[in-house]
Amino acid sequence: MARRRQIYEGKAKILYEGPEPGTLIQYFKDDATAFNAQKKGTISGKGVLNNRISEHIFTLLGHIGVPTHFIRRLNMREQLIRQVEIVPIEVVVRNVAAGSLSKRLGIEEGTQLPRTIVEYYYKDDALGDPLISEEHIACFGWASQEEMHDIADMAIRVNDFMSGLFAGIGIRLVDFKLEFGRIWENDFSRIILADEISPDGCRLWDRESGEKLDKDRFRRDLGGEVEAYQEVARRLGLLPEGIDNAVLDLEKHRKRRGK
Ligand code: TMP
Repeated sequence: MARRRQIYEGKAKILYEGPEPGTLIQYFKDDATAFNAQKKGTISGKGVLNNRISEHIFTLLGHIGVPTHFIRRLNMREQLIRQVEIVPIEVVVRNVAAGSLSKRLGIEEGTQLPRTIVEYYYKDDALGDPLISEEHIACFGWASQEEMHDIADMAIRVNDFMSGLFAGIGIRLVDFKLEFGRIWENDFSRIILADEISPDGCRLWDRESGEKLDKDRFRRDLGGEVEAYQEVARRLGLLPEGIDNAVLDLEKHRKRRGK
């Protein structure tokens, strides 16, 4: 096969040129980073699980009318997506206090918030993705008022849908991060959901035990990362006993042999 042109490499994913104009291939790596890449590691099998989990959630969101970049999954680690112009804002939705919110405001982790909070961070690694307000977004022209209206609206719809989805499988959706992109049609652009939705960018706590089933296992050195991601996939019905586990084991072997 001809070598594909790499468009971009991020911390957990690589983007390649797609088969048609306006498409890209999104490849999910096993690499994990935290604290703006000050902590680095690999979680063997994570890419396979995130590809599958993100496919599932984006497909369901598409069914309820949330436009997304997802077209279809191609193989274990890759999906075909629409090329977008990424809006340089990370949108964080919070239902329960945790992480940076708890730290910044001194609110105990696990405190149920009286209302959902939507926060914006400026996507800039050199600056450490600082928290910003809509005033900054408007002032510096990172997105228009109309785009921000659509983004906030979609973020809330995604939250409502995902809270229910995870509640149904005994998981508390504490918070998560979304990214959006612009697609151009003639002279008009519209906003669609981009990036991924996976345990890398969500806090998912088991409803009964409070056990963390997300990247905080890596951030906080708790261990059992891949098992936690696998548990999320299993509860979502994405890991029929035996089959995908065998595939994941194969992947692990492949990794160990350094292929
Ligand atoms: P925070 O509490 O560290 O601000 O994180 C809030 C949520 O956003 C959490 O679910 C993890 C996710 N997140 C990312 O996906 N990428 C990031 O770079 C950060 C800081 C958080």
